[in-house]
Amino acid sequence: MGQNGAGKTSLIKHFNGLLKPSSGTVRVNGVETTKTSVAALAENVGFVFQNPDNQLFSETVEAEVAFALKNFGFDKETIDKRVSWALDFLSLSQYRKTSPFLLSGGERKRVALASVLAWDPETLVLDEPTIGQDYEQKEKLRQFIIQLQAEKKTVVMVTHDVEFVVDCNPRIILMREGKIIADGASKDILTSPKLLEEVSLVLPQITQIFTKLTPIGLPANIISVDEAENALLTKAKERGKYS
Ligand SMILES: Nc1ncnc2c1ncn2[C@@H]1O[C@H](COP(=O)(O)OP(=O)(O)O)[C@@H](O)[C@H]1O
Ligand SMILES: [Mg+2]
Repeated sequence: MGQNGAGKTSLIKHFNGLLKPSSGTVRVNGVETTKTSVAALAENVGFVFQNPDNQLFSETVEAEVAFALKNFGFDKETIDKRVSWALDFLSLSQYRKTSPFLLSGGERKRVALASVLAWDPETLVLDEPTIGQDYEQKEKLRQFIIQLQAEKKTVVMVTHDVEFVVDCNPRIILMREGKIIADGASKDILTSPKLLEEVSLVLPQITQIFTKLTPIGLPANIISVDEAENALLTKAKERGKYS
């Protein structure tokens, strides 16, 4: 997370070798990116660009989503199954035969996401995936990310969407002017007004409320609804008004 121009996109483009370091080294799964090809790196790292127009090129949505799978040599039956699953999951089935370029920005972003989710890479890199998505789509994406976390896959996401990331409980790295300025658990980073201000982000709404309620003895470092509920119930019990 971090301001526009902080270097987030530049950093994550190193994860599949789209950019190579001019000094220092970048290793992905122990392999130096300067010593391997983008094609080899891309086998393990699925990348969804900030701007889907830099990614889409096929004549139909279906062909776009099938492209990587064909390249990786999956059989037709598997390709059909995975393409149908991804299109259904991202509510794109009705556009199967449509050109991606006739879709809205948010839909094109979902096509790019579908093409990566369909081949199920070990590492997923998502550059601002929630832009242009409504609540339902964001919620589906969040549930999917939580599922990938449970499968021990790696998901690296660039986002300004504080509310979206809270429930994923991620490690958060804040960037400013090309440098990392903070790296830690979401509960520590997303509850720090000072750190967030430095990178032009705001506290999650629930944290804002609890920060204002510290004078009545509630904790400030609350980031989720569940935590808020527990903190309020504990407080109510202390006062003997609830049991
Ligand atoms: N290929 C490039 N060559 C030189 N400068 C670049 C290049 N790509 C991006 N930049 C610059 O690097 C900075 C970081 O950009 P970027 O990684 O896109 O930031 P972010 O994704 O955090 O908004 C910006 O000032 C941008 O103009
Ligand atoms: Mg960017």
